[in-house]
Amino acid sequence: MDKRKIILDCDPGHDDAVAIMMAARHPKLELLGITTVNGNQTLEKTTRNALNVCQYLGIDVPVCKGMDRPMVRPALPVEERVHGESGLDGPVFPPLTKQLDPRHAVDFIIETVLASDTNVTLVPTGPLSNIGMAIRKEPKILEKIDEIVLMGGAYQHGNVTPAAEFNIIDDAEAAYVVFTCGRPVVMMGLDLTRQALCYPSVVERMSKNDNPAGKLFTDLMKFFCMTQKKTFGWEGGPLHDPTCVAYLIDPTCIETKEMYTEIDITGGPSHGRTNCDFFNLMTDKPRNSKVCVKLDVEKFWNIVEECIKLYN
Ligand code: BDR
Ligand code: CA
Repeated sequence: MDKRKIILDCDPGHDDAVAIMMAARHPKLELLGITTVNGNQTLEKTTRNALNVCQYLGIDVPVCKGMDRPMVRPALPVEERVHGESGLDGPVFPPLTKQLDPRHAVDFIIETVLASDTNVTLVPTGPLSNIGMAIRKEPKILEKIDEIVLMGGAYQHGNVTPAAEFNIIDDAEAAYVVFTCGRPVVMMGLDLTRQALCYPSVVERMSKNDNPAGKLFTDLMKFFCMTQKKTFGWEGGPLHDPTCVAYLIDPTCIETKEMYTEIDITGGPSHGRTNCDFFNLMTDKPRNSKVCVKLDVEKFWNIVEECIKLYN
């Protein structure tokens, strides 16, 4: 069976780090590289975090630093309440020796997609600045993009404003480019990721895996559960970004619905909202997205554990 070629574009971030762990070793996936973007933390910190995760887990793929800000507007403030001062508080990493790839993330995405003998799937789990820029800089990549499987948006309620989710509102113009690019978009919005709740019982289960991935998951999620409780009063926090990788490994773990989605870039109170025509009745525009609606929670955690066990 051919492996599905993917590029993970991320802003680690606790849930991004778990997504990296899952994407790197699974036999159904070939991780061509990791690109980083400003988001959960500054670009310097998200890049360092990606390098640390790769070094710790022995993941030998290029890591390329990308956009340090959104395409048009200033970045939102970083979210230290959830991800801590480093953007990845919790685990203690050994001194960093893994080198950054010198290519800019936008150029890496363009070169890698164009050079690939088969189509590539882009997996963005942070603001869409790198992907939007790559599409604008070299539109020829579009014909070689299989799908864009992203974490972002919500057809119900946001998490930064009542209307908008962080990855979309942080660079809404880039999201607009992505959703209008003509390639299939799979949207893991908050409606879906709020079903992937990482309760202490999940941490306990994964901690029984005595390998580097089990330890990393446990150290990350203990911190994450603590900040979710402190900040929002929740017992279990949503593990957003890994849902993208779980879907690539086994699409039957997530139910999707095709619909037209439009990004609000008007700058008003709903700026950054993913306006999803859920009932496909309000617009006659072609359906440009598969929006994820239901997670098979048991299957999802089984996939996460299957990925952890690959580090035995
Ligand atoms: C998204 O924002 C970040 O905090 C997470 O890593 C996730 O990608 C959720 O809104
Ligand atoms: Ca993220």
